[in-house]
Amino acid sequence: MKKIQVSPSILAADFSQLGNEIKRLEKGGADLIHVDVMDGHFVPNLTIGPPVIKALKKNCSIKFDVHLMISPVHKYIEAYSDAGADIITIHPEATDNLSASISKIKELKKKVGVSLNPETKVSIIKEHLEQIDLVLIMSVNPGFGGQKFMPEVLKKIEELKNIKIKNSLNFDIEVDGGINFKNSKDVIKAGANILVSGTTIFKESNGNIKKNIEELRIP
Ligand code: DX5
Ligand code: ZN
Repeated sequence: MKKIQVSPSILAADFSQLGNEIKRLEKGGADLIHVDVMDGHFVPNLTIGPPVIKALKKNCSIKFDVHLMISPVHKYIEAYSDAGADIITIHPEATDNLSASISKIKELKKKVGVSLNPETKVSIIKEHLEQIDLVLIMSVNPGFGGQKFMPEVLKKIEELKNIKIKNSLNFDIEVDGGINFKNSKDVIKAGANILVSGTTIFKESNGNIKKNIEELRIP
């Protein structure tokens, strides 16, 4: 099994101190930095755009795992790539041509992520899996941090893991939303190898990021 990676979501960070918060994540052993980009249209919330990502990336050596919850996403892919995204994750519902959007990310030499909302079926991406580096399984409806984990997605993680094994594919399985120290174990057992977490990492153990990251990694 690949080492379990943790991708802290800066959505739960102190936005008045973002640069320092990223430094704390670096020191705390984060494997990736998860950046939630929301447009107030594809999801009800609005967050951050390319200039902020560019500024944060300048002082950070960790790869940026950029989760685009924007529609139509295609025309913005290049801007997020230029800003410094290393993994660019899109939702199939946010593009009218998933193949073209995947190819665009590949042309820009970035890792391709595709995200499945809780109600989105694995079959929608099945024919694309060879082109995809990472599947991001949403365990909440996207839009806000601090929501409750939906245990019904565990079946989907397993389904995806089985497809991966059966077809000898290599993509990462990342899970996002409501991850805590208890369900992290179920998620890992089901087949995930990257965990996104905002609230647990920034708020548990009085904000001891290192401790929280380490605890999330334990299978
Ligand atoms: C939800 C976002 C998540 C979320 C994770 O739309 O994609 O990344 O902020 O935060 P927690 O861990 O608080 O659910
Ligand atoms: Zn996210």
